Amino acid sequence: MAEEMRIVLRNVGKIDPLNIDEYINAGGYKSLEKARGMDRGELIEEVKKANLRGRGGAGFNCGMKWSFSYQLETDQKYVVCNADEGEPGTYKDRIIMENDPQSLFEGMAICGYAIGSNKGYIYCRGEYPYVVEHLNQAIAQAKAKGVLGDFDIEVRMGAGAYVCGEESALIESIEGHRGEPRFKPPFPGVAGLWGRPTIVNNVETFANIPVIVEKGAEWYKNIGAASYPGTKILTLSGDVVNRTYFEVPTNVTIREVIFGLGGGVAEGKKFKAVQIGGTSGGFIPEELLDTQIDFDSMGKIGATLGTGAVFVMDETRDIVDVIEKITKFFEHESCGKCTPCREGTKRMHEMVERFKAGTGTIEEMELMDTLGTVMSTACLCGLGQAAPAPVLTTLEHFRSDYTGKLA
Ligand SMILES: Cc1cc2nc3c(=O)[nH]c(=O)nc-3n(C[C@H](O)[C@H](O)[C@H](O)COP(=O)(O)O)c2cc1C
Repeated sequence: MAEEMRIVLRNVGKIDPLNIDEYINAGGYKSLEKARGMDRGELIEEVKKANLRGRGGAGFNCGMKWSFSYQLETDQKYVVCNADEGEPGTYKDRIIMENDPQSLFEGMAICGYAIGSNKGYIYCRGEYPYVVEHLNQAIAQAKAKGVLGDFDIEVRMGAGAYVCGEESALIESIEGHRGEPRFKPPFPGVAGLWGRPTIVNNVETFANIPVIVEKGAEWYKNIGAASYPGTKILTLSGDVVNRTYFEVPTNVTIREVIFGLGGGVAEGKKFKAVQIGGTSGGFIPEELLDTQIDFDSMGKIGATLGTGAVFVMDETRDIVDVIEKITKFFEHESCGKCTPCREGTKRMHEMVERFKAGTGTIEEMELMDTLGTVMSTACLCGLGQAAPAPVLTTLEHFRSDYTGKLA
């Protein structure tokens, strides 16, 4: 059975997060010092070689992203930490920010040195006001100690919009505009905050950086799955015995997570489905539980690793009922900027509502399939592109839950 491997969460429960000396005594800020002694190009090469891929959901190679901004000559560059954490069932970034905020700052400062930026922002979700307070205290300590050098960090707070986790909508929000995604390209690495090169990385991604700098790419890339090395923090919820978080190497299987660390389905009931990666994740049936959780293995079964949220459903769950709640969420959270998402999320929810009421038709099942396929290719940002995944995967794996509700 799988065991935890704590790399990112190495200090959790061991140090007082609001006593910077404890972080420093545990080896903190040594990696920043080491990084600043390295050639910036070589530092980025090392991060690239480690093959650390974004932990916010898209799985892009972190060092590669940094290399785009590094190459550009400009008056200002920015480092932005995405702490929006709006994905339902996800609370991994909160765990890091609450328990080890200095490791996040250290990762951001290393990025700042690598790309040539002296300014960082942490965009924290509006539902975490106490985390913002906590971060500000920790930043004040880092500034007082002088550990960040000339790298400055400020916290910005969101107002509770799911779409503001999308990197370009997040940038719009920091700039003081309505949170709507931008057309890409240009990507933020080239033209982000106030049109300047901006690296946006997730909290967990940044928290991996000090360890990679300390131990090296060779060490890191041998952990977990070859194509998505390292660990992933998973947050378990729903009908599972251990509703908590675990950090595991990325080559564990879904079954090991649910029935090993998770302790199995709650109240001795039978397993029905699991949704991984948040609300836009695909639904996974029993026969696919031996799939590894890494980004590419999940992609092959039409699912996602996403943020690492693991929502377990037992035999008593009505899939159509769950999907109705999910489609309602997307209808509510669509920012309305592009037509396929604004209209598509609404029509999809209406159709699922009809199934829930027992008035769906076979034609509508086909229409949901077509609409979902159109949305996943035509929507402007990841919100609309990923929104149909729960519908499409349940139409494939849990078809009888729909046909049982035909008019
Ligand atoms: C609707 C939507 C919400 C998102 N929410 C988050 C979020 O809360 N946190 C996050 O890190 N990335 C989120 N992302 C992904 C970001 O756009 C981006 O890929 C990520 O911040 C890049 O960091 P990474 O490469 O370290 O993962 C979201 C994307 C979409 C489309």
